[in-house]
Amino acid sequence: MSQKAVVFAGEQGQRFVSELKDLLRIPSVSTAPEHFGDVRRAAEFVAAGLRSAGLENVRLIETGTEPSPGRPGHQGHPLVYGEWLHAEPLPDGSPRPTVLFYGHYDVQPAEPLEEWMSPPFEPTERDGNLYARGAVDDKGQMWMHVKALESLLKADGRLPVNVRVLMEGEEEVGGEGIAAFVREHGDQLKADVALVSDTEMFAPELPTLCVGLRGMIYTELEAQGAATDLHSGIYGGAAPNPLVALAQIITQLKGSDGRINIPGFYDGIEEPTPAELDAWRSLPFDEEEYRWREVGSTELTGEEGYSVLERTWARPTMDVHGISGGFTGVGAKTVIPARASAKISFRLVPGMKPEETFSRYRRFVEQICPRGVQVKATLIHSGDPIVVSTDNRYVHAATEAMKEVFGKPTVFVRGGGSIPIVGDFVRELKTPTVMMGFGLPDDNLHAPNEKFHLANFHRGIESIVWFLDKVGDPVKAGI
Ligand code: BES
Ligand code: MN
Ligand code: MN
Repeated sequence: MSQKAVVFAGEQGQRFVSELKDLLRIPSVSTAPEHFGDVRRAAEFVAAGLRSAGLENVRLIETGTEPSPGRPGHQGHPLVYGEWLHAEPLPDGSPRPTVLFYGHYDVQPAEPLEEWMSPPFEPTERDGNLYARGAVDDKGQMWMHVKALESLLKADGRLPVNVRVLMEGEEEVGGEGIAAFVREHGDQLKADVALVSDTEMFAPELPTLCVGLRGMIYTELEAQGAATDLHSGIYGGAAPNPLVALAQIITQLKGSDGRINIPGFYDGIEEPTPAELDAWRSLPFDEEEYRWREVGSTELTGEEGYSVLERTWARPTMDVHGISGGFTGVGAKTVIPARASAKISFRLVPGMKPEETFSRYRRFVEQICPRGVQVKATLIHSGDPIVVSTDNRYVHAATEAMKEVFGKPTVFVRGGGSIPIVGDFVRELKTPTVMMGFGLPDDNLHAPNEKFHLANFHRGIESIVWFLDKVGDPVKAGI
């Protein structure tokens, strides 16, 4: 029966891609105030897609918070919701499972623009890939969800399971709105399993389930020295320099051995099991090839004694995303800036708590801040680390589904990235979560020339159709 849906998806594949291109033309950069309206347009596009797929009660859910003491308010981007809850009961009269689909329609900024081979918001096909900001992260993968549902509903007139869809427009800025919605209205999202397609395959042709994500805290560090900018000749030597102070703080956060120096930072970390480590060792991975092909640096860095996969999946780390202040224009200006700031984030692994890590970090930077400079750390957003259980019929259904499409067994990996809401699905909603993603390691997420391998877009749709078919079938799912 899902065969008809697979045939439908095959016949309509070109249209699906052309619709995806329309969505990719909308620059829904969630962090940029000038794109506020574009983010909403993208939400409306997704809502229209869900409606024409045949979902019901499709609506935008507004997010945002009023300012309250100690918390700035935030003007939110809408959630897109839809449902279809008419699956025929099982032979014993019990209801079919409900699947919660999650994805995000917001994207990262596209800069630096001059490094794109074709403009980021003019989707372009080259060599079987679709290039555009958001192509794979996550508009393309989110669209697979919509199109899989459409294929089933159009081909069969019904779905093999009950479905709720919840797409957000703030994932790339921390997902505050969806987290509040899940906390307050979790009862409206009752589901037996959540399906997330926002991760990568380990290698081309290798079906992959992601079973863990790192958490994160994203912070800003502001340093203040003199009351105003000063002439560096007249005052240099006597006046504190906040840029130098930030540099000194940053170099003390992480040693050249890759270890983070914040007291207590590593306390309570849960190591991967020996079985998981064993499984990682048997993945097709060559550190040297990774170095030159993906990273393109002369050396890899990080904690000694850990493989690259351990360092990026199961170890916490720190990165600096930007430092600003003072004079960075053409030419020269001799100034001691009064203020400087840095964007600094930490990736967290199971056993670590974002609030706890943030307060340890804040205490440490205040302690090591050079004399004459005041430093203030603020938390911009955070998300919990997670590992999902693999011992359930939904994971089994996913591996069986991908076997139909790729003809191979699935590998289990973790992801070094973060998807803040997945932690809430697991903890708040207690929903088993399947992270079935179809990105490739060279898809350039968050970087210039982001792409989606179009074959994976189509295989993703097919895999989701099979997944729903198997989840809905009590015999195939082994109930
Ligand atoms: N889809 C990514 C996360 C991801 C990528 C997980 C690859 C696993 C493998 C997501 O859109 C993302 O980029 N998240 C942000 C977090 C956010 C809070 C800014 C990230 O990881 O930096
Ligand atoms: Mn994403
Ligand atoms: Mn992303």
